[in-house]
Amino acid sequence: MSRIFSGIQPSGTLHIGNYLGAVKNWAALQHTHESFFCVVDYHAIIAAYEPADLRARTADMIVSLLAAGVDPSRCTLFVQSMVPEHTELAWIFNTITPLGELERQTQFKDKASREESVPAGLLNYPVLQAADILLYRADRVPVGEDQVQHLELSREISRKWNARFDAGVGAGDAFFPEPEPLLTPSRRIMGLDGKAKMSKSLGNTVGLLEPADEIWAKLRPAVTDPKRQRRTDPGTPEVCNIYHLHKAFSPPETVQHVAVQCSTAGWGCIDCKKVLHESMERELVPIRSRAREVAANGALVKEMIDAGADHARRVAQATMREVKDRMGLT
Ligand code: TYM
Repeated sequence: MSRIFSGIQPSGTLHIGNYLGAVKNWAALQHTHESFFCVVDYHAIIAAYEPADLRARTADMIVSLLAAGVDPSRCTLFVQSMVPEHTELAWIFNTITPLGELERQTQFKDKASREESVPAGLLNYPVLQAADILLYRADRVPVGEDQVQHLELSREISRKWNARFDAGVGAGDAFFPEPEPLLTPSRRIMGLDGKAKMSKSLGNTVGLLEPADEIWAKLRPAVTDPKRQRRTDPGTPEVCNIYHLHKAFSPPETVQHVAVQCSTAGWGCIDCKKVLHESMERELVPIRSRAREVAANGALVKEMIDAGADHARRVAQATMREVKDRMGLT
C-alpha cells in the first residue's frame, strides 16, 4: 500500500477551498493508502500570533478535519509539534538545500514582498514541508495546486540527500521517495470575489462549518460571468466561478442543467446560486452535525490525537535512526 502524507495549517476552521482541494480527498484516500495527516503548527508560528489563539485554532482545525471525514481509525492524525523529528530532519535538509531554490519559491516571494522584516523561517518553510513528507517516506501528497511548487522542491531535496548519503541509490530503491502531488479536479477553488484563490488571508472564504444563512449572504453577491450584465443576457458557464462550484458540489445532471440554463439565459444568476446553495447544504449539513458531536467530546479527541502522535513518532524515529546512521551522526 503506498503511503501518503499531507498537512494543513491550524487556521481555525477549514474553508471550502481546503476541503475541495485536499481534505475531502484525504477522507477518500485513507481507505486505500497508509495515511498520515498533520496539523502543521510549526509552519503556523512563522506569522505573528498569540499562543492561546494558536492552541484554540489547532483544536478547532482538528474538529473540522474529523467532521470532514478524516477518521483516526483509518489514518494517523496528529499535530506536528508533537513529533519533534520534523524539525530535526528539517535542519538536516537545510544543510543540502540551495538558497537560490528557496528564494525562487513563489509563495516566499509573495509573502516576503509584503513584510518589512522577513523571518528566516519564511524562507525555510518548504524545507520543513519536505521534512514532514519524507520523515514518513511518503510518495504521494494530496494537496491543492498552490503546493505543487513546494513538492518539486521536496523531490529535489530527496534526490540530493539520496545522491549524497544513500549508498544503495538506484531506480526504485532509494531511501527517500520522490513525493508526487495528488490533485483533485477542484485543485484551485477561487474566492467568491472571483479574483483570487480562496484563501483565509484574503478574506474571500466560505467556511466549511458556516451556518446556511451566512453562506447564502456570501453567495448572493458573489461574482459571476462579468459579461452577463442583465438577466436576459446569456452567460458563459466556464468563466463563472459559481458554475465551477456547482461542479464541485452538484450532481452531474444538475451541472449540465445549470450550463444550459446559464447559456440560454433560462435562469438568472440568483436562480443558479440558489440551486448551488441547496447542493452545498446537502453536503455540509452532515459535516456541521458531526462537528457538533466531535466538539462535545474533547477527551476522546485528545486521546485520538495522542495515539496518532505516538504512532507518527515511532515511524519518524525509525527514519531518523537510519538518516543519522547514514550521515555519520550519533
Ligand atoms: P494550507 O494550510 O494553506 O492548505 C491546506 C490544503 O488546502 C489546499 N488549498 C486549496 N485547494 C484548492 N483551492 C484553494 N483555494 C485552496 N486553498 C488551500 C492546499 O493546497 C493544501 O493542500 N504548506 C501547506 C501545509 C503543509 C503541507 C506539508 C502540505 C505543511 N507541510 C506537507 C502537504 C505536505 C499549507 O500551507 O497548506
